[in-house]
Amino acid sequence: MTVATADNGIRALPRTASVAWHGDPAAVVFAPDAVQAALRDGAQAYVVVRNPDGQVGMAPAAATTTRNGHSTGWELLANAPACPPEQFGDPLFRAFHQVRYAYSTGAMANGIASADLVIAMGQAQLLGSFGAAGLVPARVEENIQRIQQALPNQPYAFNLIHSPSEEALERGAVELYLKYGIRTVEASAFLALTPQIVRYRVAGLRLNPQGQLEIQNRVIAKISRRETAAAFMQPAPDKLLAELVQQGYITPQQAQLAQYVPMADDLTAESDSGGHTDNRPLVSLLPSLLALRDDIQAQRNYPMPVRVGAAGGISTPAAVLGAFMMGAAYVVTGSVNQACVESGSSAHVRNLLAQAGIADVMMAPAADMFEMGVKVQLLKKGTLFPLRAQRLYELYVQYDALEDIPAAERAKLEQQVFQKPLEEVWQETVNYFMQRDPEQIERAADKPKRKMALVFRWYLGLSSRWANSGTAGREMDYQIWCGPAMGAFNDWVRGSYLEQPANRRVVDVAMHLMHGAAHLYRVQSLRMQGVYLPTAYDGYRPEPLG
Ligand SMILES: Cc1cc2nc3c(=O)[nH]c(=O)nc-3n(C[C@H](O)[C@H](O)[C@H](O)COP(=O)(O)O)c2cc1C
Repeated sequence: MTVATADNGIRALPRTASVAWHGDPAAVVFAPDAVQAALRDGAQAYVVVRNPDGQVGMAPAAATTTRNGHSTGWELLANAPACPPEQFGDPLFRAFHQVRYAYSTGAMANGIASADLVIAMGQAQLLGSFGAAGLVPARVEENIQRIQQALPNQPYAFNLIHSPSEEALERGAVELYLKYGIRTVEASAFLALTPQIVRYRVAGLRLNPQGQLEIQNRVIAKISRRETAAAFMQPAPDKLLAELVQQGYITPQQAQLAQYVPMADDLTAESDSGGHTDNRPLVSLLPSLLALRDDIQAQRNYPMPVRVGAAGGISTPAAVLGAFMMGAAYVVTGSVNQACVESGSSAHVRNLLAQAGIADVMMAPAADMFEMGVKVQLLKKGTLFPLRAQRLYELYVQYDALEDIPAAERAKLEQQVFQKPLEEVWQETVNYFMQRDPEQIERAADKPKRKMALVFRWYLGLSSRWANSGTAGREMDYQIWCGPAMGAFNDWVRGSYLEQPANRRVVDVAMHLMHGAAHLYRVQSLRMQGVYLPTAYDGYRPEPLG
């Protein structure tokens, strides 16, 4: 008889019937470390068994035999099937995007989701989305060329962000993506469908020589509201299609084909996240969008139903597992990747992020939709930006013109926040927009409140650039988009090699999150089968990848 080396604390809960186990007793491990290793070994199936002395251990399922009497008096308590992380999520997501895991990294504006980050992911056969928002077209084009050269046959995506106040930017991005044959866009911030996103999608539809409809331009729409989700789960609206045909952007045949496909292949339910967010909890948003998808699928009967993935707050094995168990087709991470060495952010920012706790974030006015009162989620530890931006918004609401701001308040702004006279800021703003989008300046003529908004947006816009470039002397003004996911990640990796910002690599993070989720799945599924496992077995400690 095998003798247990130490009490591993594992017990069987009372059960109604007992099932005999026949197998090789020598293959059973009891020692806590060996049990932990078995739980982590997701490539193999295991069984949990109890010996006649009442000790519980684990053995590879292959050690089970059908021979009666080989191990008399042993009991089978539970099965732990093989659980490779490749199995999580929708297999169609993996096949469609040709990726190893149902996992992707979301776009981060201003190239924070950099070419290096997207290339690292692609080389590991994982999908990363380039952060094109906020970059001038020439920079986006350079990055397209770099990424296409580095990833000729591997996955990658580019962000197509809706720009309500700068429509030209959205149009320009679509033209670049079509010109370079970008096959996957992550569409975000859309409030409704625009001609640009419809053009991108439909210009990629064609019939192959076998007469089958082919989708060449894939859309992953990131959504936090049901109404917008419904628009992306439906085919493109006839009115927009007719206009695009008339303008010569799509052919009449493509407009016809568009009736048979949804606007998006994948829809990411974005819950409380870093940056722009509606702060919805994933546990509420995801089931709601899954149900919406099922309703629309029942009406439309698409050959390939829209897949619904999850983003927001995902930065620990528990969160990854939770999302998959709730039915997510794939998971998307964000905040945690900004703290990785490949991100386009600065070392100072990465260090601040590595120290953040889950409560070190707050909502503060957004640069792009400042006048509308839209807010973004930011890091508040180590920077005064969120409070200063909040003050600017209060002044904007309170006064109709810069001239109305009391002299003492204005002097404080010029000294502490802008570090220059407001008239100088206005001149810089004029120069900036005259090159980029002169209409912005024309629209401010004779509208002092609009001029005030543009001046305040100078600060809001530059503050994220200062953060990315690590501008010395402006540390207290760094605007760092970040959600509670960052703190949760820091708590998880404390004490492991990933605690150090210099060791955080996007692929390491992805691998450990997925493997950690697989480990946790085993532990939780054994508990659900009536095996009591002490919490010490939950821990998955990231080790450097070999
Ligand atoms: C620094 C930063 C910048 C972001 N910029 C964009 C962006 O430009 N476009 C976009 O679609 N999403 C953007 N996001 C959202 C991420 O792609 C992702 O959906 C989100 O961060 C996931 O939630 P999490 O932060 O809780 O992980 C950004 C997030 C962060 C943290």
